[in-house]
Amino acid sequence: MRLQDKIAIVTGAGAGFGGGIARRFAEEGAHVIVNDINATNADGVVADIRNNGGSAICLAGDVSSDGDTAALVAGAVETFGGLDIMVNNAGVPQRNMPMDEVPEGAFDQIFNVNVKSLYWAAIHALPEMRKRGGGAFVNTSSTAALSPRAGLVWYNASKGAVNTITKGMAIELASDNIRVNAICPVAGETQMLAEFAGGEVTPEMRQMFLNSIPLGRFSQPLDIANAALFLASDEAAMITGVCMEVDGGRCI
Ligand SMILES: NC(=O)c1ccc[n+]([C@@H]2O[C@H](COP(=O)([O-])OP(=O)(O)OC[C@H]3O[C@@H](n4cnc5c(N)ncnc54)[C@H](O)[C@@H]3O)[C@@H](O)[C@H]2O)c1
Repeated sequence: MRLQDKIAIVTGAGAGFGGGIARRFAEEGAHVIVNDINATNADGVVADIRNNGGSAICLAGDVSSDGDTAALVAGAVETFGGLDIMVNNAGVPQRNMPMDEVPEGAFDQIFNVNVKSLYWAAIHALPEMRKRGGGAFVNTSSTAALSPRAGLVWYNASKGAVNTITKGMAIELASDNIRVNAICPVAGETQMLAEFAGGEVTPEMRQMFLNSIPLGRFSQPLDIANAALFLASDEAAMITGVCMEVDGGRCI
């Protein structure tokens, strides 16, 4: 078991990549706190994990909220006794459109959920990790940070911030034995893909995405979960500040 008895929060874990990460962590022995703004979906992932003999609880909440993030960390400590791993995975897309047509509310939501959530996670998770003498953050970024696609300017920028925050946190927290890494997935067939495509994944749009991925397929939750598992585990004890592409070669 690669995460035996580690206590891990996974945000945005009611669907998509986060659901895959939560399930994979539980298979490897972690106690998983499944967060999502959609409580029904998060409950479903918890039920799956428990049915497979794993350990998990649901703590629904909004990662862009101070109070909800405080409650999330407090719940991990109350239920399992501490916090070792924080996976900041929750994110929202930008609907593909010209940058100057994106409404202010959509811009604010992208930065609140994709970026400000890392601020709240740092504020609330760091004291608990320091009490345990170390920890690991894994942030879900995107190839959008490294090789931006047209029509997604503000989303691309939010993921650029995730990469810079990851590296800044890594250097600042190294002396606390807290590692901070990010994963940069290529397009995945989650509910987010339609937004990146502008509302509907037409066969032409699907082929356009696939043509940009040398390995010839979309990323799957298990691809992202396996990378997160490695970065969160002691196998990556010497790795911090890395923004790792899981992208089938897209960013080469
Ligand atoms: N799907 C892709 O093509 C792709 C590619 C690169 C990176 N990503 C990133 O991967 C991460 C996961 O996305 P996904 O593809 O699994 O999408 P998804 O929409 O399937 O899952 C995202 C989950 O986050 C939850 N969520 C949204 N806002 C939240 C909030 N404020 N608080 C808590 N939970 C919230 C949603 O309810 C949803 O369950 C995101 O950070 C996304 O930006 C996705």
